[in-house]
Amino acid sequence: MTKSLRVAIIGCGEIAKQLHVPDLATSPNADIVAFCDIETDMARGLAETWAPDARIYKDYKLMLKDGVAEAVVVCLPNKLHAPVSIDALNAGCHVLVEKPMATSAAECDKMLAAAKKAGKQLLVNQCQRLHPAHLKAKEVLDSGILGKVLHVTAMFGHGGPREWSPRGTWFWKKSEARFGAMADLGVHKADLIRYLTGKEVAEVCGFVENCNNPKDDVDDNMVSAIRFTDGTVGTLAASWTVYGESADFISLHCAKGSLRVRLWPGEPVIAHLQHPQCEISFEPPEPRGDYAGSWGLDAGGSFARACLGLEPPFCPGEEGKKSLELILAIEKAAQTRKTVSLKH
Ligand SMILES: NC(=O)c1ccc[n+]([C@@H]2O[C@H](COP(=O)([O-])OP(=O)(O)OC[C@H]3O[C@@H](n4cnc5c(N)ncnc54)[C@H](O)[C@@H]3O)[C@@H](O)[C@H]2O)c1
Repeated sequence: MTKSLRVAIIGCGEIAKQLHVPDLATSPNADIVAFCDIETDMARGLAETWAPDARIYKDYKLMLKDGVAEAVVVCLPNKLHAPVSIDALNAGCHVLVEKPMATSAAECDKMLAAAKKAGKQLLVNQCQRLHPAHLKAKEVLDSGILGKVLHVTAMFGHGGPREWSPRGTWFWKKSEARFGAMADLGVHKADLIRYLTGKEVAEVCGFVENCNNPKDDVDDNMVSAIRFTDGTVGTLAASWTVYGESADFISLHCAKGSLRVRLWPGEPVIAHLQHPQCEISFEPPEPRGDYAGSWGLDAGGSFARACLGLEPPFCPGEEGKKSLELILAIEKAAQTRKTVSLKH
């Protein structure tokens, strides 16, 4: 018999609607038993479409007290990630928390301690790890055909949260979001470069700016130069001012050739080898998630399977913390106009 996990959604905005709820509702390993949002219409709307029998809550603490779920997905404004995740872990739930994991390394430590004490899974939704093109890129890099990675460059940019979640005014308020583009988008690629290369960053310098949104009190652009512990170098950029298109790519330049991954539907993963000189086009695996508009990631299913002990967690809390620390180091470098070292 298929094992199934009772899951609740806390925060029923854009990412819940576009990714987590459909992924979980279509997973054989999960049942959505509750939706919680301070705006209960948001919770009801998702329930009607995906899980009509689920319970609706306005107050997540009440939901935790009722003990309806074995696991929760935290899809809230960034400043709530740590307190709500800790409350859920203390109530005995497994947690999948959205990125960025928290607003500081100290908060991450408290979340990790709560997970350890509860004996529950704590995953961070660094979901670029699950993208079919990135699964293929990891396979190609790990095969060794390109040799050692020497230089990596990654960027994630689009027109910003006004395009993504028109209701989400919290995105550009520092008191609720803590970070702008640097962590909203930058942490995705910070995590991806660590994941794909298997290397840790030793030092960074960078700029974090607000170039085009003067009324917002968070950044809308970040650029950084990075050096890994083994001397590999790279650049990392994030932007909320990429208008008219989006920028979502990583290139890895290696001792025997280069690998280019651009996240664009239908785009193959391209390797250029030096000897023999050739171009190899790798088809990513089939997207996961069998519903119209699926991102092809099955993040919810992966979370459920990790909680049920059926597969390893795709991004444990410890990993989410390291990726956030890279962004925090870049921020510090920008503020001090100095190179900042990371501890490992
Ligand atoms: N992994 C990804 O690719 C990805 C993409 C977009 C957003 N995100 C992350 O997901 C999180 C949510 O982003 P979003 O775009 O869904 O935001 P959103 O503003 O669209 O949704 C947030 C929801 O939380 C609700 N909410 C706020 N406070 C609450 C509380 N105390 N209790 C219950 N509900 C509450 C709001 O009413 C809203 O419906 C953010 O941390 C963001 O960084 C991740």
